[in-house]
Amino acid sequence: MQEEMRVVKQTSIARNIFEIVLQGDITKNMTTPGQFVHIRVGNSSEFMLRRPISICSVDQQAQTLTCLYRAEGKGTMQLSQLKSGDTVDILAPLGNGFPVEAAQKTALLIGGGIGVPPLYELSKQLNARGIKTIHVLGFQSAEDMFYIDAFETLGTTHVATVDGTYGTKGFVTDVIQALPVDYDTFYTCGPIVMIKAIQETLPNTPGYVSLEERMGCGIGACYACVCEADNEDGYVKICTDGPVFEKGALAL
Ligand code: FAD
Ligand code: FES
Repeated sequence: MQEEMRVVKQTSIARNIFEIVLQGDITKNMTTPGQFVHIRVGNSSEFMLRRPISICSVDQQAQTLTCLYRAEGKGTMQLSQLKSGDTVDILAPLGNGFPVEAAQKTALLIGGGIGVPPLYELSKQLNARGIKTIHVLGFQSAEDMFYIDAFETLGTTHVATVDGTYGTKGFVTDVIQALPVDYDTFYTCGPIVMIKAIQETLPNTPGYVSLEERMGCGIGACYACVCEADNEDGYVKICTDGPVFEKGALAL
């Protein structure tokens, strides 16, 4: 579905990280955590390619959705200029999200950097189903952290920073190795190098991984997002087959 959504507010919440809240009818279809919106950030030909951004949170009553993104390249910098009352062209909800029904009692949610946002709606929905959530969030530095308080309201939250300015010095895998294994399922989103390390650290735990890789059309037409996989075709399209996959399904 496509809609001109209204910007309710946009706030800077960490170094180069923005929180944007959008309102529109399309939110009523946003029921699965881990799906994404495809945003047309401007009308000029320079911005023909949409930017995929994960759905961080949905409020069905207010008909709003919240996205968190890093303003880095041309498109996301343009997006960060939008003000309350502006409208923005959104294609959504896209992709296959996280299976919330997979967790039994306790789920471990592991996010790296800008892979953290989709885990927030996931944690909300798991908690609503009576599943306990443990969060492990990794960032480069304390200046890059966001949503720590929000995650803490949903479950125990551990933070790792590469430079040691907050929480455990090092990577999310350093935190996981020191945790007692009292979870039955893991869910993760972040850079491929992190996802690979997590799959190696948790070989015996069922898990689901979300990839935020380079995309074009977002709807299965351009093949910009193919990734090698152990299936009949030998590949998957991240945009329509994913972005969430069962652990081990992709040749990362
Ligand atoms: P530019 O360099 O101007 O982008 C040029 C083109 O390359 C655009 O078409 C852009 O979409 C594409 N591109 C560049 N880098 C990426 C990338 N890493 N992934 C996909 N396309 C890329 N980022 C966030 O900050 N928050 C999120 O919640 C988030 N969720 C994502 C969910 C999915 C399913 C995917 C695939 C990516 C997600 N990303 C997220 C990454 C985000 O889409 C890119 O950082 C963004 O598109 C880069 O655009 P730009 O204008 O900054 O860079
Ligand atoms: Fe075009 Fe996936 S982004 S096929």
